[in-house]
Amino acid sequence: MAELEIRNLIKDYGSFKAIKDVSFSAASGEFVVMVGPSGCGKSTLLRSIAGLETVTSGAIRINGRDITKDEPSDRGVAMVFQNYALYPHMTVRQNMGFALKIAGRPRAEIDAAVNRAAKILRIEAQLEKKPKALSGGQKQRVAIGRAITRAPDVFLFDEPLSNLDAALRSQMRIELGRLHAELGATMVYVTHDQTEAMTMASRIVVMNEGRVEQVGPPLDLYNRPVNRFVAGFLGSPRMNFIKARVAEARAGGVTLTAEGVSGSLTVALEDTPPRTGDEVMVGIRPEAFSDGEAVDGWTLDGAIAVMESLGRETLLYIDGGSLRSVDSESQEGFFAVHRTRQITARHGDPVRVGIKPGAVYLFDSRDRAIAWPDHHSHA
Ligand SMILES: Nc1ncnc2c1ncn2[C@@H]1O[C@H](COP(=O)(O)OP(=O)(O)O)[C@@H](O)[C@H]1O
Ligand SMILES: [Mg+2]
Repeated sequence: MAELEIRNLIKDYGSFKAIKDVSFSAASGEFVVMVGPSGCGKSTLLRSIAGLETVTSGAIRINGRDITKDEPSDRGVAMVFQNYALYPHMTVRQNMGFALKIAGRPRAEIDAAVNRAAKILRIEAQLEKKPKALSGGQKQRVAIGRAITRAPDVFLFDEPLSNLDAALRSQMRIELGRLHAELGATMVYVTHDQTEAMTMASRIVVMNEGRVEQVGPPLDLYNRPVNRFVAGFLGSPRMNFIKARVAEARAGGVTLTAEGVSGSLTVALEDTPPRTGDEVMVGIRPEAFSDGEAVDGWTLDGAIAVMESLGRETLLYIDGGSLRSVDSESQEGFFAVHRTRQITARHGDPVRVGIKPGAVYLFDSRDRAIAWPDHHSHA
């Protein structure tokens, strides 16, 4: 059992700042998931913890012991890489026992550790094979097994599932959850996949451009994101955003208008509201649109651009004409609407949805969240 603490970590590559003052900690036995877009510094941070990078400044501690300048092999951490990094000329058994062999452990101890890890990972039948004879999923298990045999204080995973197909990924998500429960070890897991983050983490660290945007349990981040980045990053399909203007501001709330919707939307605010005339951003999750006209909010009239029938649920992408969802390059400016029922409609059919006050997020001109949905009265 081990607590990991990262304090004010900075990593520069020449003049490029890859990690800009990052602090977070993982409690003993915790499963922390670090998530963020490609290039935001996740691997650099993980490699710094493993000792594969020399940090510019800051401290890394395990159980209070400063390991910032220790050799990788002395840190009590084991890392699992996306590309497995197995030794091709060695058998699975040799791969998994290699670190213990280098450390000069007796043969019987190595065998016992390898057999135990192989049993946990259900790869006992593969032990005498070479990596090239294994499937992608089996190779990933061997890479994880190699970490387990070292019995580290902290496991580091760098996008371990991203080379696997979707079905295997969801199976491995469950297996890693079981593994974590069985070993009770502290784990830091890096991914750019927000589904992995939401489903596996006890806490999520959201990173962007070398900084930590927010840390918290998955649903806290989903329900109460601190800014537009976190709001847009967690959730699939993404949150929809509409640019709006404050028509009226008073203590306790604002009334908003936007081009391309009818009606007006009055949102309650806990703190100082923006001023009349200010531009703000309204965020709506795909599941938060109401059906038909909203008498107490905005009504959006559009046409069905794309419909994805998934059986028990349906995803609609609505073309709002001149009104585009901001920040949604991947869905061409269409509004993503999620329904937990089957819908029979066709491309081009008109559709009307409502946007109600208790169902929206609000972001100020600096992208900070200033209002969140009321989860007791869902649309
Ligand atoms: N050895 C290096 N030299 C210079 N820049 C690097 C080096 N390694 C990573 N970077 C840069 O640091 C940034 C963060 O990279 P990385 O940690 O790999 O991101 P992520 O894992 O989140 O995709 C990227 O802009 C990357 O180009
Ligand atoms: Mg990476």
